[in-house]
Amino acid sequence: MRRKLAAGNWKMNGTAEALGEIDAIAKTASGAEAEVLICPPATLIATAQGAAGDRLLLGGQDCHAERSGAHTGDISAAMLKDAGATYVILGHSERREDHGEDDEDVRAKAKAALDAGLKVIICVGETLEEREASNTLDIIGGQLAGSIPDLVTAQSLVVAYEPIWAIGTGKTPTLDQIGEVHDFIRGRLERRFGTGVGRSTRILYGGSVNPGNAAEIFGVSNVDGALVGGASLKAVDFTPIIDALSAAK
Ligand code: 13P
Repeated sequence: MRRKLAAGNWKMNGTAEALGEIDAIAKTASGAEAEVLICPPATLIATAQGAAGDRLLLGGQDCHAERSGAHTGDISAAMLKDAGATYVILGHSERREDHGEDDEDVRAKAKAALDAGLKVIICVGETLEEREASNTLDIIGGQLAGSIPDLVTAQSLVVAYEPIWAIGTGKTPTLDQIGEVHDFIRGRLERRFGTGVGRSTRILYGGSVNPGNAAEIFGVSNVDGALVGGASLKAVDFTPIIDALSAAK
């Protein structure tokens, strides 16, 4: 009942020469059982649309909480939508860290994105210190409560669990640790939004997903896909991840 989602976050990588990768990923996506999304830099969304066609979804990596106005360098949800985005990633740990975004900021951005008709991928995750102090679930619970606006539906919300210490490090939590957090997130969604929405909302894992570990991660209960950084930049790496997800039960 939850369609799997393979999402690529290109972060601050990619110029026009990367459009060939979009085309190659779109080819895999067109035959895939899983939904496939690439969130390239905002500058590429409109041109990537030509290569993606209706085979591959495109998304943004952040948006402003206001609709428009004097915010030099920022981008609104409506602008992303206008460029061809259907999703936007919000509250990524790199935004939280580099730009001081807190849960309240993320919630405000999510409201703006939903207002503009975008779907939101809201990221949560603990630091290594928080995990080692056994605070992981408290941290995740707080981020979920603070970052997700009330108005979400199972169609408009995706939650991504990205342990900060696993991002770009080649380290991943054990499968049990991933399962524990995903089960916890599912429980919190059901408690807050009711079992219908809670059970139908997709929960992605992110952090050092690669072709070698994807299949076992996708075998964990309540893992409905992945938010992939480095391994989404090249079709040769992302394709086996999409295939592993499509093959997952
Ligand atoms: P990596 O897959 O490069 O670890 O990045 C994960 C991530 O931050 C996706 O949003």
